Amino acid sequence: MSLCVLLVSSCAKKSAEDRFIDDLLSRMTLEEKIGQMNQLDPSYESEVKEALIREGRVGSIFNIVDAKEVNRLQRMAVEETRLGIPLVVARDVIHGYHTIYPIPLGQGATWNPELIEQAAQLTAREAIQDGIRWAFSPMVDVAHDPRWGRVAEGYGEDPVLTSTMGAATVRGYQSQGMAACVKHFAGYSVSEGGRDYNTTWIPEVQLRDIYLPPFKAALDAGAMSVMCSFNNMNGFPSSANPHLNIDILRHEWQSDALLVSDWGSGSDLVPHGMCADKKDAALRCINARMEMDMEGNIYTDYLAELIAEGKVKESQIDECVRSVLRLKYRLGLFDNPYVPEDEPTFYSDEALAAAQQTAEESAILLKNDGILPLNIQHPTLNILITGPLADQKKEQLGTWVFDGQPEHSVTPLEVFRSLNISYEPGLTYSRDKNKAGIAKAVAAAKKADVILFFAGEEAILSGEARCRADINLPGAQAEMMDALAATGKPVVMIVMAGRPLTIGKQVEQAAAVLYAFHGGTMAGPALFNILTGQAVPSGKTPITFPKMVGQIPLYYNRHNTGRPSYDPPMLIDSIPIGCPQFSIGQSSYWLETPTEPLFPFGFGLSYTTFEYGSTRIDTLPFREGQGVGYSLSCSITNTGKYDAYEVAQLYTHQKSGYMVRPLKELKGFEKVYIPAGESRTVTFTLTDEQLGYWHESHHDFASKVWFETDSADYEVWIAPDSRCQTTPVQLTL
Ligand code: NOJ
Repeated sequence: MSLCVLLVSSCAKKSAEDRFIDDLLSRMTLEEKIGQMNQLDPSYESEVKEALIREGRVGSIFNIVDAKEVNRLQRMAVEETRLGIPLVVARDVIHGYHTIYPIPLGQGATWNPELIEQAAQLTAREAIQDGIRWAFSPMVDVAHDPRWGRVAEGYGEDPVLTSTMGAATVRGYQSQGMAACVKHFAGYSVSEGGRDYNTTWIPEVQLRDIYLPPFKAALDAGAMSVMCSFNNMNGFPSSANPHLNIDILRHEWQSDALLVSDWGSGSDLVPHGMCADKKDAALRCINARMEMDMEGNIYTDYLAELIAEGKVKESQIDECVRSVLRLKYRLGLFDNPYVPEDEPTFYSDEALAAAQQTAEESAILLKNDGILPLNIQHPTLNILITGPLADQKKEQLGTWVFDGQPEHSVTPLEVFRSLNISYEPGLTYSRDKNKAGIAKAVAAAKKADVILFFAGEEAILSGEARCRADINLPGAQAEMMDALAATGKPVVMIVMAGRPLTIGKQVEQAAAVLYAFHGGTMAGPALFNILTGQAVPSGKTPITFPKMVGQIPLYYNRHNTGRPSYDPPMLIDSIPIGCPQFSIGQSSYWLETPTEPLFPFGFGLSYTTFEYGSTRIDTLPFREGQGVGYSLSCSITNTGKYDAYEVAQLYTHQKSGYMVRPLKELKGFEKVYIPAGESRTVTFTLTDEQLGYWHESHHDFASKVWFETDSADYEVWIAPDSRCQTTPVQLTL
């Protein structure tokens, strides 16, 4: 075949998208290309910002939330620059735009990807009206540490749950025309000490088994972009990590999504201690194919110089610009750069209903001695509403809310006012230490039949850079709970927080505990419905709740150790005085607490009860190229009085292997509606690939990793949570 024919056939295979981008790229100057790699926050003075856009030195702008302003700036890019390349407008749209849904950790607690996809669709519809075409979410950092403030922004501790929810969010946004940005790539959540931006050390196999799968799932769902993380992982800040950004993202996964830095994460290479100056930082980032620089200005300031010096090739720039143009092309911005300037519709009935349902499904009933649901039909039931979170329109929205307006929030107090209640907040905000109000709340409690104590954290205590070393209830809330419990009246504690809190003592004191996270705009009606039985709780923990902060990191899919904890272990107060060193044995626990959490992953009660039948296994017919597959099923009966949802969870355990495997691993889940007295069968497919994991060898000083499924014995079971081990079926591969 002649070269000419080869060229023709390769051209013929090019898509319209590629041809468009090739053509545009071939007409761009180096300055215009570098401009496309620059993302600007509009806090610059107008003249500076506008001049940069008119000169074609801006590829994307973020934090503009007004269609008219978007169009005004867009006109400069489209009509006043030589090539007319449109801007793409981005925003931190995290868990809603104006209508705010529960924080992502609460969304994880719903275990309902359809609902999360719908929430993302409605969010995108709101945001697009203001010209936002690129959302900086979902965050799919699997997190084991509730001290880390950003635990609020992800879907919890499990890779399968996080992958499912992240992919649902991507589909929801992108089906409406708003690009998703899956973040933070990668390994951000394992920050030492749970302190944000801190170093992480993650072995390659763990990175691949636990932290990377949600990114891959989001990309498989079509995510158009990825954001670098701030942290240094294994000595390499992500913006300058060629292993992550090139080997894995580009070569292994073949992704063509745009890779944007986090805010200044490129220039941060200087304080990280990797680069002597910002020019060096630009060099390290471009060599690691960080494609767009968010607010760091290192590309605009140094790339041209680095090219002139021969340190960077223009082809490196081209591949980055290609990604930027691709995102814009896929969003249709070249054809339709402008946004209609009609009055936007926010808080539609549909959005509010979805926000309420998501809030209902995100609330987890952790304890109930029978007090819930409240019998509001009782003619004289006197309810005291108390606590610092009962009537906080802003706080119930949670972290990362820039556009949701607190005046649209409906608080629990507002809804409960329709009943016979009294209200005495006790504390005015979550950190309040002024106990004067507690006495008033106690006086009111004495006259009440039931106390609803809305406790928790204000929104500012979680999210980026909002880490806590102490995850008890802040302020005087614990003292308030002591005082309320001392009245002898039943206390229902509702926790509105951005993370699991160490509430063991309060759980003992309370008659019931409902964990609601920050539930968003419609948290009030959602909690009202659950507390009064108009909705049945179905949330399950997306993350392990520790008993005390010293247990962290504590997660269900841990390894057993060679010396698993005695049951029960000898705790500090039981140790005989002066006893010899080894007389109390050697097993893996803390002297103050066993290894058991306060609440395990996947746990949540209902107003009804479910009975699980035994897990049944069938081998699926062999499918060419798809390996071995099994069908696992189990019948679940609703044995109580309420129609309700149950989240059935499929777990596996590999009993021996090339490497040590976790005690259990979630492989699938299904949220199923079961009317009272009826049974439903849940069925999961499990393939041999799902039983595989990343292997590692350092033999003969040659390090390598590979994915494989071991020939081994496995146990498989379907259960209501990660602690409850129903009788497993045995499987041998
Ligand atoms: C920093 C955060 O880490 C990231 O999640 C966010 O999207 C960007 N800043 C933009 O605000």
